[in-house]
Amino acid sequence: MEVAVRYFSRGGHVKQMAEAIARGAGVEAISVDDPRAALDTPVDLLFIGGALYGFRLDQAIYDFVEALDPEMVTNRAICFGSSYLTRRPIYILQDILKQKGITISPQAAYARNKPKELLLDSLAYFAETEINRDPDLDRLPPIQYMIRAEKRKKEEQEAREAAEAAALVAEAEAEAEQEEDELEADGLPEATEEVAADMGETVAEEAEEE
Ligand SMILES: Cc1cc2nc3c(=O)[nH]c(=O)nc-3n(C[C@H](O)[C@H](O)[C@H](O)COP(=O)(O)O)c2cc1C
Repeated sequence: MEVAVRYFSRGGHVKQMAEAIARGAGVEAISVDDPRAALDTPVDLLFIGGALYGFRLDQAIYDFVEALDPEMVTNRAICFGSSYLTRRPIYILQDILKQKGITISPQAAYARNKPKELLLDSLAYFAETEINRDPDLDRLPPIQYMIRAEKRKKEEQEAREAAEAAALVAEAEAEAEQEEDELEADGLPEATEEVAADMGETVAEEAEEE
């Protein structure tokens, strides 16, 4: 699954959140004012975060979203944010992304001002879980989701093992074929005849000696 983490942070709180999410997702958190921030290739999942400054997000976030091609987010966007008072930064983000036609995940993450260490750890875990979440199963009640997700994981493991076994067999077959070709190329029949003749003589000599 292709994942991107984008954010804008004036004071560092949202940056900390973005970096925790990126750690869980195994990618780099990139500020939207970084020249590398634009999404040139599609991602399945976009984590995007910002904070509230005078009831608005920073203009850099609006500019990033405006320039964003909605086709670059193929599955969903998960919004995160920080403020002193309300979850408004999340709602604003969800709103502007939705207007672009991007699917919004019902999941979101919020910190009141500076995120606590515990929240940062949870964010990393949250990101990891979201990446492995199967959107096809999203509407199931939690217990059924777990059962189905476990079943799917097992099936995937079995398929991986079968593919590995098939690859080993194919590799062994290719090696055997190559050896056969090499032997043929080396003139196997003559070589074998020579060896057989030598052996025959040796056996005859030994028999004579006896
Ligand atoms: C200039 C400024 C304006 C702010 N305006 C609001 C606001 O309107 N509502 C609110 O809840 N928090 C407001 N805050 C609080 C920030 O949203 C909050 O501290 C957030 O964690 C900052 O994130 P950052 O460190 O990533 O920039 C404001 C903070 C600053 C510095």
